[in-house]
Amino acid sequence: MKKSPPWQYDEFRQVGVDYEDPLEVEAYDERHAQFRDVDAECARILDTLGVTTQSVVIELGTGTGAFAMHAARRCGHVYAVDVSDRMLEAVRNKANKAVLQNITTCHAGFLTYEHAGPFADALVTSMAFHHLPDFWKGMALARMNGMLKPGGLLYIHDVLFAQADAEANITRWIDTLGDIGGQQLRDEVATHIREEFSTFDWIMDGLLERADFSILSKDMVEGVVGTYLCQKN
Ligand SMILES: C[S@@+](CC[C@H](N)C(=O)[O-])C[C@H]1O[C@@H](n2cnc3c(N)ncnc32)[C@H](O)[C@@H]1O
Repeated sequence: MKKSPPWQYDEFRQVGVDYEDPLEVEAYDERHAQFRDVDAECARILDTLGVTTQSVVIELGTGTGAFAMHAARRCGHVYAVDVSDRMLEAVRNKANKAVLQNITTCHAGFLTYEHAGPFADALVTSMAFHHLPDFWKGMALARMNGMLKPGGLLYIHDVLFAQADAEANITRWIDTLGDIGGQQLRDEVATHIREEFSTFDWIMDGLLERADFSILSKDMVEGVVGTYLCQKN
């Protein structure tokens, strides 16, 4: 891995939820299944990207690798990147179990991953980009742009806030998730808002455009979750 300058943001330091905690990793899939249909999400992303068996896909912030597994069944090669070694261990276990040999796991992050494979057809990041403060999101987007083929696609799904009624939207969201997943999920979401770096959607619009992406589509749900499909210019 290239040596980073001393002023670079330390993306390996866990902020908010600790994804190096083995208990967190073990509980992750079950906890998220309470409020997400992850299989449907993954299928939708791959359909939207129009992948083929030749496609090269990079996933940044892969977590336990649900998307990477789905992608590996439909694509040529998948690079699953995460700053948490524990998460990557879970990905490797799943890949071994499913006998999927076209997944490369990489212990790195948005700011440190050096893509050595062929230029990617698509880059996906789901529920992970909020781990970087905004300046560093901008730096990371420029790096992502450099990993893609001309016309390559970027899919971002994350917690993002609409400016209008932000406080009311967040309160309602925490209540909804609390009703589904109890106090633990309520606390996790509160930690996210308090300590992680989810930003306004209009900031994300600007960051994407300045990193030389065109926004092909954007969807905001309940003012708290955003999905972008972008294309490298
Ligand atoms: C909430 S999980 C999301 C996992 C999965 N993508 C999903 O949709 O369920 C966030 C993941 O991002 C990883 N992460 C945090 N900071 C990161 C960074 N700077 N670069 C890459 N991954 C990062 C964490 O280790 C964790 O596995």
